Amino acid sequence: MSTPTQPTPYDRLGGAHVLRALVDRFYDLMDEDPDYYGIRKMHPADLSTSRDKLFWFLSGWTGGPPEYADRFGHPFLRRRHLPFAIGSAERDQWVDCMRRAMRDMNLDPELQQELDAAFFQTADFMRNQPQ
Ligand code: HEM
Repeated sequence: MSTPTQPTPYDRLGGAHVLRALVDRFYDLMDEDPDYYGIRKMHPADLSTSRDKLFWFLSGWTGGPPEYADRFGHPFLRRRHLPFAIGSAERDQWVDCMRRAMRDMNLDPELQQELDAAFFQTADFMRNQPQ
């Protein structure tokens, strides 16, 4: 008898199309809301590559196809963020921007809470400044 498998966060949020729309909403908000200027200015003027890379990364991170690893191998995420000064203010801007994007996408509230906690943990791990 086969054990039923739990749906992954990737399945629960609705797969590739919804995840891509979430990432696009995230960067649209980062681009247009001055609250996020602190982190927006660290990114390139053209956000196309950022959009693709975050989408590919989150695909695997949420339990879907490992799009990022298939293209680039291990992400070494903390090391990749070292060139940018990330303290608690930058972490909180990132997490807040993603929280708003999830809300705008009307993701299931329980899933939003789970992802929010996981995003916070990952963003906090990226911190490389004392404050
Ligand atoms: C803590 C606050 C964060 C700041 C200020 C920040 C900022 C940045 C910046 C400036 C880049 C380089 C430009 C780009 O490629 O878009 C970048 C790349 C990236 N970030 Fe973040 N980030 C943060 C948190 C996160 C989190 C929480 C994740 C994942 C859940 C993440 C995933 C990525 C990925 C996948 C890349 C592309 C890496 C590559 O070049 O291959 N970041 N981030």
